[in-house]
Amino acid sequence: MAGAFITFEGIDGSGKSTQLRMLASTLRLAGYEVVTTREPGGTPLGKQLRLALLDAQAEVDPLAELLLYAADRAQHVRTLLTPALETSHIVLSDRYADATVAYQGAGRGFTPELIASVVELATGGLKPDLTLFFEVSVAEGLMRTRKREDSERGKDRLDAEDIEFYARVRVLDASGSIEETHASVVSIVMPFLEERGLKRHALARESSPTAPQPPPSSAH
Ligand SMILES: Nc1ncnc2c1ncn2[C@@H]1O[C@H](COP(=O)(O)OP(=O)(O)OP(=O)(O)O)[C@@H](O)[C@H]1O
Ligand SMILES: [Mg+2]
Repeated sequence: MAGAFITFEGIDGSGKSTQLRMLASTLRLAGYEVVTTREPGGTPLGKQLRLALLDAQAEVDPLAELLLYAADRAQHVRTLLTPALETSHIVLSDRYADATVAYQGAGRGFTPELIASVVELATGGLKPDLTLFFEVSVAEGLMRTRKREDSERGKDRLDAEDIEFYARVRVLDASGSIEETHASVVSIVMPFLEERGLKRHALARESSPTAPQPPPSSAH
């Protein structure tokens, strides 16, 4: 497809949302057309599914949960991601299918084959061109969010057998400051986009002298 699909993965508090917003503004300054989105909840239907999925009161059966994520993803791929990529946008998604492999696969005990077929069905085979995996210790992630204790976090490890995953995934050390991590992100993404020859607006600044300020913290 004509655009570029970049996904952000990592445990809660690893800095995905912060870095996504900063990268979007850096890329826009550089003249790229950027669409930002997330999973779950990137579409109107997805927002409702997200509310249902994140409702702490509800007891969600693991299979129902897997299929709700798949429904969110199918709607996202068909109504937002594919049209944006076909029209040459750079799409930045806060989580995508790798999160399902980690949480519903390793976390909930479904077989890799079942996860792979549900992901394939939902995505129609749409894969990221680049995945940024933000690595921080679980303790650091928890300290940052201070939202919840969750013994599942230690299981958020990706399947070492997925060779394709390692070919497109860049693992970043996200334990430093917001600005340091942003610099790492930019050093990976800019050469990647230039290599792909994506269009930029003619009026764009060639380089931005100052890095964008980190946005006010509002984790989601
Ligand atoms: N490098 C950093 N150093 C210190 N604090 C950070 C860093 N990056 C992000 N934060 C802060 O940590 C909190 C969590 O960051 P952020 O919301 O970006 O994480 P996330 O990966 O999107 O988490 P979640 O999976 O829960 O959505 C925010 O308050 C953010 O401002
Ligand atoms: Mg977030």
